[in-house]
Amino acid sequence: MNIVVTGGAGFIGSHFIKHILRKYSGYKILNIDKLTYAGNPENLEEAEDNPDYTFVKEDICSKRIIEKVVEGYDVIVNFAAESHVDRSIEEPEVFLKTDVMGTFNLLEICRTAGFKKYIQISTDETYGSAGGGETFSEESPLNPSNPYSASKAAADLLVLSYSKTYKLPVNIARSTNNYGPNQYPEKFIPLFVTNAIEDKPLPLYGDGKNVRDWLFVEDNCRGIDVILHKGIDGEIYNIAGENERENIFIAKKIIECLDKSEQLIKPVKDRPGHDRRYSISCGKIKGLGWKPEVSLEDGLRLTVDWYKTHPQWWKKIKSGEFLEYYKKHYK
Ligand code: NAD
Ligand code: DAU
Repeated sequence: MNIVVTGGAGFIGSHFIKHILRKYSGYKILNIDKLTYAGNPENLEEAEDNPDYTFVKEDICSKRIIEKVVEGYDVIVNFAAESHVDRSIEEPEVFLKTDVMGTFNLLEICRTAGFKKYIQISTDETYGSAGGGETFSEESPLNPSNPYSASKAAADLLVLSYSKTYKLPVNIARSTNNYGPNQYPEKFIPLFVTNAIEDKPLPLYGDGKNVRDWLFVEDNCRGIDVILHKGIDGEIYNIAGENERENIFIAKKIIECLDKSEQLIKPVKDRPGHDRRYSISCGKIKGLGWKPEVSLEDGLRLTVDWYKTHPQWWKKIKSGEFLEYYKKHYK
């Protein structure tokens, strides 16, 4: 299989590339990534010398260039996105450009070049906030709350329209909150872990009782692999961690793992439009033989240990040194 992975220098995409290269021999991977602030080639050091791996620094919105570089490939897995909710509240425009127009470009390329499969990496956030006792299935309506999730929902609708209108062989993967090594330290878990390591305050939004369902990143990658190989064309698959926890619970676990004081947890002003709870069912992908394998306890310990032992990865990101390095090496 010859796979184009877009956004492969980011958190989940880089784990997916390493997963595929470790598991399958003879698969070729082309990683197309714009290297925004969130893209980090260091995430892929292990793949760099692999003859089956190629990297191209490009924007998925640059249709003419992308359609040339993807010649000879049969599948696109689209991870490329602006992915952080707080940034989407501050500056929504780039979310529409990348998450909607970028997806549109890739769909057009797939349609005209006759790709065998297009997989859209989407999110449980497209269903919006779940009430107490409510759990969304793949058939539930989309009800996004912020510019990020609205742009992801718009992209999903475009993907489904290409399936219905052009019979493009697509799948959509909607996962819950991922966590694990190499996650950019603006997201909740890596921000709290790295702040706690440095004895800095942990800014907990609102009352800390918002619920997220935590999925270890490698479990998600195995799920996407299953969809790639067994997914039925046109179908959406939810991928859940089955670990719904209040944010305050996770914050306290991180403190416990690092043997720090709970005094570090600082309640701060809530995020506007903050979804109270995400909850999805994943029986459909379980029917293809997948289930989450890493417990929250093990996954959190492994993640905390990774950040403890890789300060060189996150300290330069947090200090801004990383962006300087970028300008020199990748522009
Ligand atoms: P990330 O922000 O870590 O990585 C995004 C990657 O996309 C970066 O490498 C960035 O450089 C690249 N990129 C951004 N704009 C681009 C463009 N215009 N052209 C090419 N590359 C571009 O994100 P992530 O957390 O790894 O998320 C990956 C995907 O999974 C996203 O589509 C996101 O919506 C989805 N998702 C994430 C989570 C989560 O918990 N992190 C959960 C469900 C779904
Ligand atoms: O549910 C899947 C989504 O999960 C993905 O689609 C998004 O790309 C990803 O960013 C993530 O969105 P969230 O908004 O759920 O993740 P975030 O890490 O930003 O926040 C998780 C929870 O923690 C949320 O309830 C807000 C809270 N939070 C977050 C930050 C950054 C805090 O309390 N303090 C913080 O500083």
